[in-house]
Parts: sequence; C-alpha cells; structure tokens
Amino acid sequence: MDKYYLIKTYGCQMNIHESEKLAGMLISLGFKPTDDEEKANVIVFNTCCIRDGAEQKIYAHIGALKGLKKRKPNLIVAICGCMAQVKSRPETIKKKFPFVNIIFGTHNLNEFKEYLIRFEKDRKYICEIWDEAKYLDEHVDTYRTSKNNAWINISYGCNNFCTYCIVPYVRGRERSRAFEDIILECKNAIDEGYKYITLLGQNVNSYGNDINDGKTTFARLLREISHLDGDFRLKFMTSHPKDLTEEVIDVIASEDKIAKVIHLPIQSGNNRILNSMNRRYTREHYLDLIKLIRTKIPNCYISTDIIVGFPGETEEEFLDTYNLINDVRYDGVFAFMYSKREGTVAASMPGHHDIATKRDRVNRLLSLSKEIIKEKNKNSIGDDYNIIINDYNATKNEYYATTDSGKSITIVNCNKTLNINNFYTAEITEYKNGKLYAKIK
Ligand code: 5AD
Ligand code: SF4
Repeated sequence: MDKYYLIKTYGCQMNIHESEKLAGMLISLGFKPTDDEEKANVIVFNTCCIRDGAEQKIYAHIGALKGLKKRKPNLIVAICGCMAQVKSRPETIKKKFPFVNIIFGTHNLNEFKEYLIRFEKDRKYICEIWDEAKYLDEHVDTYRTSKNNAWINISYGCNNFCTYCIVPYVRGRERSRAFEDIILECKNAIDEGYKYITLLGQNVNSYGNDINDGKTTFARLLREISHLDGDFRLKFMTSHPKDLTEEVIDVIASEDKIAKVIHLPIQSGNNRILNSMNRRYTREHYLDLIKLIRTKIPNCYISTDIIVGFPGETEEEFLDTYNLINDVRYDGVFAFMYSKREGTVAASMPGHHDIATKRDRVNRLLSLSKEIIKEKNKNSIGDDYNIIINDYNATKNEYYATTDSGKSITIVNCNKTLNINNFYTAEITEYKNGKLYAKIK
C-alpha cells in the first residue's frame, strides 16, 4: 500500500529548503507527497520562531490535528525546525499536544530518517534536540519543490546576535560549506535544468570568514558560479549591510548571470536604534551602500526588512526610518512589528511598546512603501527586464512571466511562440489596475 507525507513549512527560505531535504528523506523511505491531511501517513511541521505570531499560528495548526489523529491513530506527527530548538518548547508542545510522536531540532534535521524508521518499528515517542551541529548536512537527497529555482545553502547559523533576534540561539554559530561542494551542487542543479540558483545564508557576505584561508570569499563564490556553463540566473540572500563589500557589488554589476536583485535589511533608519539593535553600521554607511549599488548597478531591485516598535523607539526615531524609506524608494519593504523573544538581549530592555503603537507604525510604513512601489511601476514603462515564462493562456494569447526579482508580468499579443521556463528580455508597455504588461524584445 502506498504511504504519503505532508510537510507544513513555516518561516523563511532556509526552512522551505530544509523541507525539501525532509521530503528527500521521506521519498527515499518510499513515501509520496500529498496535500491531503486525510491521506497522509506522516505529517511534519517544519516550524519558525522568529516572531510570536508565527509560533501562535503553528500551535493552532498542530492543535487542529487532534480530531484527525483520533480517527487515524497510526498517523505519525513530527515537529521540527526553529521552534523545536527553543529551550522548553518541546516540553510545551508535548504537554499541549500529547499526540505528537517525534520532535527534533535544527541541528539534527538529517537524523529524521532514522527517527522515522525507529518510530515505525517500536512506536515510542522520540524527542531529540542537539545543542549544536555535529556535521554540515552534506550528501542529503534533496527533493526540490520549487519549479525553476534551486535553493543552495552556502552557510548555516549566524554570528551577529542582533539584540532582537532568536536565530543565533536556534541555528548556532556560522558554519560555511566547502567552496567545491557548493560549486558542485550548483553545477548539478543547472544540469538538471533549474533556471534560478538562489544561495542561502543568514549573512551571505560573511561566507568563508570561518574558513579563513584568504581566498574563500563570497565575491569569489559568486564569480565562479556565474562562470558555470548553462542558461541560468544567480540570486542570493540575505546580505548584512556591515559585510557587503564594494567587491561584491562589482561582481554583481559585471556578471550577466547574476540577477540585479539585492535584499539589504536596514531594520531601522535611526542610529541610536541601530546601535541598540547591535547592527554595527550607521544610517550614513547604509545610504552610502545604496548610492554605490545604484551607481554601479542602475535599475537594481533593492528590498529591505524593517522592525518597528523596537524597545525605546520614539516617534521621532521611527520617523527617521519612515523618511529613509521615502528617500531610498525601495522596490520591496518587509516591515515587522517588534516581537519580544525570550533570551535575547532586547527582551530585557526598557520601553516595550503596546501593540497599537506598533501596528500604527507598521501600517504607516507599509502604505508609504505601497505608494512608492506603485509610482515606480508607473515610471517603469519603457524599462527592459530579464523575464522567465511561467504559463500561457491560448484563448487570450497571453504569456505570464516573472522578472528576476519575482514581479509578475503579462505579455500580451505576442506574435511569436515563447517557451515555458525560458528567459527573454521584455519591455514594459503598460501599468494598469496594479498589473504590469510588457512586450518581448
Ligand atoms: N521581531 C520582529 N521582527 C524580527 N525579525 C527578526 N527578529 C524579529 C523580532 N524579534 C525580522 C528582521 C529580519 C526578518 C527575517 O525578521 O527584520 O530581517
Ligand atoms: Fe538575526 Fe541579525 Fe543574524 Fe539576521 S544577522 S539572522 S537578524 S542575528
């Protein structure tokens, strides 16, 4: 009889990719994917703990399985990922949801296959959390789920300890993967036909700092990957402004295969708050970087992350962030309300804000950035983009495409046949009802 798995993924791209590794393990044990909870023999929650909202949502979703598990006692429920790695969470999960069968953390993700085999044999509750990674997770059969994008880790963990952030506590110190292993994985993904290679690290710019041989740097990695044969585009995330060098910007500018897309979280536009966040750059340094990027890479798509309502943030300090967004005119803004994470430095700082203040600030930022993006879209008529074709509607003769940054674009009245999953250059012709239209060049 066929066996099925369902993985519910929460959080960032790192987690999305780790779910592909979990899927690879399940497939190697003979499981098949399903979206149907009723059909699943194993349900895995790959969790996130970056903000309290994420955790509450996950608790609600696990709780919703209670009835199903009663009807199907053989269903295996596993919880893993960042939330499982937080101190005392496994006990809380087990107490709230006694039907959970397997809990494991971020450092022993690769052991999931062993845990599952063991549980299927003796059906005894497993809870294993490691304090640190014992190895880098090489040689995992990844089952890639994104149509044309291959996520590829270049490093794990983070050394930065931004005072609000729980990531260094649940993912450990930064470990860089070997240069040659990354190149090999990129080569394989390109040979398999993936059109986008997206390199993943909490701070891609510090890649190689722990290898310390003077030549393992992010700039060299980008250059070597972009020199590989094949028709692909290279992307990466996330960049920390304190470590983004001019050399890296030059490589992005000069290599055609590197997408002109940079996600550069600023978090706050106020120097006192940046210092209190332990970000280790100033507003001025950040703005210099933006200037450098825009000079060397005209039309570069730049997005950012912002936290509003950090402990002690005054209205004036918030306005520094607001005005910076107004000046930089980002192509994408991810704004979050500060969420207190137990055990972080900021959790015990004075001046925590109420939810109303944080909501008001986040809403003001988001509506500003929405206006700016609308304006930029309007002004993009005549601009050229590298696009990939995702779909075709024969009745309407419309192709649906995305730019390297992920913007949706409709190609209308095209008089030549375009191939799905191929790159083309398109010129924006119209912006109407919030949609961009383009013609193929
Ligand atoms: N509260 C709110 N947002 C946070 N982020 C990280 N930690 C917190 C927190 N405690 C945001 C940052 C980061 C993004 C991934 O999540 O902006 O860049
Ligand atoms: Fe968290 Fe800062 Fe590390 Fe990003 S760089 S993961 S925000 S500690």
